[in-house]
Amino acid sequence: RTAPLVLGIESSCDETGVGIVRGTALLTNTVASSMEEHVRFGGVIPEIASRAHLDAFVPTLRKALDEAGVTLADIDAIAVTSGPGLAGALMVGVCAAKALALATDKPLYAINHLVAHVGVGLLQSAGGAESGGTAAFTGALPGNLGALLVSGGHTEILRIRSITNDVELLGSTIDDAAGEAYDKVARLLGLGYPGGPAIDKLARTGNARAIRFPRGLTQPKYMGTAEEPGPHRYDWSFSGLKTAVARCVEQFEARGEDVPVADVAAAFQEAVVDVITSKAVLACRDHGITELLLGGGVAANSRLRQLTEQRCRASGIRLTVPPLPLCTDNGAMVAALGAQLVMAGVEPSGTGFAPDSSMP
Ligand code: KG4
Ligand code: ZN
Repeated sequence: RTAPLVLGIESSCDETGVGIVRGTALLTNTVASSMEEHVRFGGVIPEIASRAHLDAFVPTLRKALDEAGVTLADIDAIAVTSGPGLAGALMVGVCAAKALALATDKPLYAINHLVAHVGVGLLQSAGGAESGGTAAFTGALPGNLGALLVSGGHTEILRIRSITNDVELLGSTIDDAAGEAYDKVARLLGLGYPGGPAIDKLARTGNARAIRFPRGLTQPKYMGTAEEPGPHRYDWSFSGLKTAVARCVEQFEARGEDVPVADVAAAFQEAVVDVITSKAVLACRDHGITELLLGGGVAANSRLRQLTEQRCRASGIRLTVPPLPLCTDNGAMVAALGAQLVMAGVEPSGTGFAPDSSMP
């Protein structure tokens, strides 16, 4: 029996994604983004994102079917992100998926966006301009896999024993996501939106040691020990860091001095990347995890990639970073996880489910 042909739909934030896979083979990953419409507001506006999904969905679907050279009738199952994410944005993708499932009488799977970020690691590229390169894992995921997901909406470390039924959250941010911290600090430094790429670039010309910013939740009372973990051993907090950067900028301005923006950017980035990587590696070591997948839009960050590689190597952890178009939000990851559920014989979700913006 040939592997299932699965259509995946993603609409949890500003990307309208439609991906098509056959089992673990990636046929197409088509994405439309409404980011340009949010730039002047300095952040994603939910109402605008929802309307943009409505405009983009049918053209994106048509393009994906064209690129994959298949029709809706060929599809074996439909998968859609049902949470977490922006409620109105999720609703557009979920309604579209339900309508397609009803009209074509295909099974429908509700997908957790975060788990989909991990499922993408299974995809073997079938080539094609937008598919973005080679496979991360061949055939199956390792049996005890860690996943570090860092984006504008999430910062999490997961342990995956089985992608279809055993995914555990080890730690997460208790306030801002890391990408959100980048965006807020970039705005403070007058670097525009989205701020991650701008800070990444500017930081290369700055001295990361010129200023030392705080690493949140690293005090012993939060960390505890491997045997007796503290309440936030694997968690992050970036709101204090953002405030520290604001104070620092104010102090330069109060003294009538020019703000050394490159140094501030580099020191901020170092604080974020240091605490993300140290806690992720700690979580892996404490849980005997020797394979780590890095995902999310912030995986594009040069310093995060560099320090994660260094620290994983030093701890004997094998690091996998999927091609960037598969790290940012996309429909192929949703299709990839959907295909795993089909192949594992998991019952479809039916059409009775609702989007859940705060899905765990
Ligand atoms: O995964 P993504 O495309 O969308 C979601 O947030 O779900 O991630 C976007 C986030 C933004 O906050 C952006 O500033 C950040 O990823 N980002 C970066 C870099 N490229 C994108 N942050 C740091 N360094 C980068 N090079
Ligand atoms: Zn995401």
